[in-house]
Amino acid sequence: MKILVIGSGGREHALCWKLAQSPLCTEVLCAPGNAGTARVGRNVDIPANNIAGLADFAQEQNIDLTVVGPDDTLAAGVVDEFEGRGLRIFGPNRAAAKLESSKTFAKEFMRRHNIPTAASGEFSDSAEALRFLDNVHYPAVVKADGLALGKGVIIAQDRREAEEAVRSMLEEKRFGDAGSQVLIEEFLVGTECSIHAIYDATSYLAFPAARDHKRAHDGDEGPNTGGMGTLSPPPDVDATTMELIHETVLRPFLRGIQKDGIAFRGMLFPGIMLTGDGPKVLEFNCRFGDPETQVLLPRLKSDLVDMLLAATDNRLAEHTPEWNSRAAVCIVMASGGYPGDYAKGLPISGLDDAQLVFHAGTRGEDGMVVTAGGRVLGVVGMGADLATARAEAYE
Ligand code: AMP
Ligand code: GLY
Repeated sequence: MKILVIGSGGREHALCWKLAQSPLCTEVLCAPGNAGTARVGRNVDIPANNIAGLADFAQEQNIDLTVVGPDDTLAAGVVDEFEGRGLRIFGPNRAAAKLESSKTFAKEFMRRHNIPTAASGEFSDSAEALRFLDNVHYPAVVKADGLALGKGVIIAQDRREAEEAVRSMLEEKRFGDAGSQVLIEEFLVGTECSIHAIYDATSYLAFPAARDHKRAHDGDEGPNTGGMGTLSPPPDVDATTMELIHETVLRPFLRGIQKDGIAFRGMLFPGIMLTGDGPKVLEFNCRFGDPETQVLLPRLKSDLVDMLLAATDNRLAEHTPEWNSRAAVCIVMASGGYPGDYAKGLPISGLDDAQLVFHAGTRGEDGMVVTAGGRVLGVVGMGADLATARAEAYE
């Protein structure tokens, strides 16, 4: 089988790496890819947002399965385009991906199907939103409805900060259309975890839990980022907690999509806050997490190609994936200055001395690997426990 992965980050390198190990796979291609995906397969110079170009390529090259990384490619309808042309693709269609691309849509879905989440109000009118701010507890959370590159969530410590956030989104259009609606949400206290589950029309398969690390600097200091590392499994997410997540989130989600007639075939990745009142959903992502994928796939013993084909054929129920009991830790090596300004084009050496390194912002140049982004590498260590895995990654 020829398999095409869309995207260019560490998540996509991990996907290519795992898919290429399948006996079903003859070639992995990645569009547009990075220097790491080029080592596993072949990079194709088509940007992830060129939906028609990607579908043309998949048709010409007789691609048997396409796997989508980025949220905005899904929100733009890549799955509808491929399926319309009879091409097999793993991911939710545009209507289903709205569960990630519109937080208001997701909130309404959760309310309708009794999935626990933070209480909230949704507004497109600035005056109404500002009135609402008079009656909420602080800190409160102000969120842009749409995809905003992970920057559309503001934790406001007081009314003044909340007002500033509302005005920047609804009046100054700081996030463009993504912020033409806002949610004002109750601030939840607890520990976060990342849950992944593959869905088809009649069942789902949950992955082990993971947790990502957001702050930029060592010692949990520095600005919030898109993820500076991940670990799996988080020690506090025990079997009882997982069962509670199945009961309150994952099973109601399946019943919900069935009831609403949402054709969700793909990865659901709910961000969950484990609160004193049980698990509550912070957001739905409709794709593999980055850098969560970099710790989950090294722990998966089963064939990922087989699993994704089962999902696209609605026969996931036949599958029982096997997982490695060893823990995994991924540490992101970032460019100096990230998530602010940083240099690009700096050479990287020593890659061949490390065991498991997923490339994110890298590219090949004159036979060398150079930096091409903020998050550059995801270095993964595995071990009998998290401490050993972490030590191995740092080494
Ligand atoms: P989201 O994109 O909605 O997951 O939000 C990004 C991050 O903001 C989350 O991972 C949380 O750390 C934080 N966050 C979002 N919503 C809330 C909330 N209601 N209470 C506390 N923290 C939140
Ligand atoms: N690590 C969080 C995400 O992929 O959105």
